[in-house]
Amino acid sequence: MIDWPALERAALEVRERAYAPYSRYHVGAALLAADGTVFVGANVENASYGLCMCAERVAIGTAVTAGAKRFQAIVVATEGPAPAAPCGMCRQVLSELGPNFPVRCIAATSDDRIETDVASLLPHAFDGGYLARDD
Ligand code: THU
Repeated sequence: MIDWPALERAALEVRERAYAPYSRYHVGAALLAADGTVFVGANVENASYGLCMCAERVAIGTAVTAGAKRFQAIVVATEGPAPAAPCGMCRQVLSELGPNFPVRCIAATSDDRIETDVASLLPHAFDGGYLARDD
């Protein structure tokens, strides 16, 4: 069973540690691994804007580094009253891991939410199956 309130609290808490001096758009992500461990990430920006790292990918990198490779859920907490779904790059990175799992997007200043899943966010995902070769 997924403890959604605990994941939401973790995402909101880590959001406060975002380093986002350029966009001032603070994002936190809480990723639930298959074994029940929660890994968190916040966005980390850079003066060279293209180097900005999204909260979701920071959480995934932290989890994989700790040895977790299968996941059951993610909560993403974004700035302001409107919840936002993960960017395209994060959708691709989320789709690498799985199996398909739910994605809940929440907002810092409202109770609005988006409830979806990785496969819905990225239909027809490019995956490792396309790289299989016989030679
Ligand atoms: N951001 C995320 O952390 N996750 C997303 O899915 C969308 C965007 C961050 C990147 C950047 O630091 C800021 O939000 C504005 O784009």
